[in-house]
Formats: sequence, structure tokens, C-alpha cells
Amino acid sequence: MNTLIACRHSVREYSDAPISRAALERIVHCAQGRSSSGKRNAPSAHGLYPLRLFAVVQRLEASKSGLYALDTPDARLGEWLKAISPEALRETSLADDAWLEHAAAVLVVAADYDAANAHFVDQQPDGRRGERYVHIEAGAVLQNMHLATLAERLDGVIVAGFDDRRLADLLALPAPLRPVALFCIGACAEASAGR
Ligand SMILES: Cc1cc2nc3c(=O)[nH]c(=O)nc-3n(C[C@H](O)[C@H](O)[C@H](O)COP(=O)(O)O)c2cc1C
Repeated sequence: MNTLIACRHSVREYSDAPISRAALERIVHCAQGRSSSGKRNAPSAHGLYPLRLFAVVQRLEASKSGLYALDTPDARLGEWLKAISPEALRETSLADDAWLEHAAAVLVVAADYDAANAHFVDQQPDGRRGERYVHIEAGAVLQNMHLATLAERLDGVIVAGFDDRRLADLLALPAPLRPVALFCIGACAEASAGR
């Protein structure tokens, strides 16, 4: 674990190589899969689990590209939902983050903020404590994702600088889900391959 932490940093350049489905599913397992206690591999306040994961697949071995639902407890790539152009994904960025277009896969962390706020409504006068918990939980999930990505000898970076409306429309996220963050994953470019 110390070795993984020591080599954790954001990487935004990837090779053109595809990544394997097994590696992607192991990353999803670390992020939100079922734990040995029967819960999940990242904590959730009151065990509510308001996060949902999706994958925008751009270069995954033996898999059609496009948006997939992820069955998170079983850590499996689920139903293919729709085609997503890599350029359109990049256009949701607030800073023209080219890595959204060039990543082999982009994991989407989305949340049911309404369910979280409703569940924790009594914990804060404005009824919005659930939002804080969603963001704490997303941070735990993203860190697990990043460390698991390194363990697969892949690279990645969190992207949260996107236009919420544009991204939600592109992904056609089912209401009331809203995007929280993206995590780009790719095979190591030459410069980082030696680590
Ligand atoms: C909440 C959050 C949002 C971020 N959003 C972006 C982003 O939109 N685009 C990007 O390239 N990096 C993004 N990053 C990555 C940071 O730029 C990166 O973590 C920071 O520069 C520190 O570098 P390191 O991760 O290599 O230690 C984000 C990181 C966090 C935690």
C-alpha cells in the first residue's frame, strides 16, 4: 500500500493501448465492489450508498465502445447504454481536458443527491447534509479507484471540472442522478511506464 501511495500522482497522457476488461472490473471492485463484510469497499454514511458508477469505454479489449452501466456490488461491466463520442466527452470539460478524449476508459461517479438529502434531512437546518456525505463518499471511491488503477500498472486522473448540465445530457443520466466526478484511465505512456 505504501508503494502505491508513493507513486500516486495524476497522469494525463496515455498510450494508445487498450486496457483489459478484467483490469477495469478489478478497479470497479476496489471502488464500490462488495467487501468481505458484505458491505462495499468504500464507506457510506448509514450504508445508504447513494453513488452510482458508469463507464465510458473508449479502448477496452473485446468490448464495444460507449457508455455502460456498472453493476457495482458484483463489479461487472453491465448493460451497454449508448454511443458516446470521445470528442463530445472532451467538450463537457471546462478546461478542454484532452485526456477525456484520449483515456482508454472514463469512469463516471454519479449520485442520487435527493436520496442522500432526504435521508439526512434532520442533521442540518437547511436539509442539505446529504450533499456533504455524497462528496466525502465520492472522495473515498475515487482514491480507491486511483490506487487500484496503479495496482493494475495503469495511470489515471480525476476530472471534476466539467459542465454539469452538458455532461448529464451527454450521458443521459437517469433522474435524479447527477455527475460528481470522472476518473480517466489509460495504459502508461512511455514516460511513466518504467515506474
Ligand atoms: C476534486 C478534484 C477535481 C479535479 N479536477 C481535475 C480536472 O478537472 N482536470 C484535471 O486535469 N485534474 C483534476 N484534478 C486533479 C488535480 O489537478 C491533481 O490532483 C493536482 O494537480 C495534484 O496533483 P497530483 O494528483 O499528481 O498529486 C482534480 C482533483 C481533485 C481532487
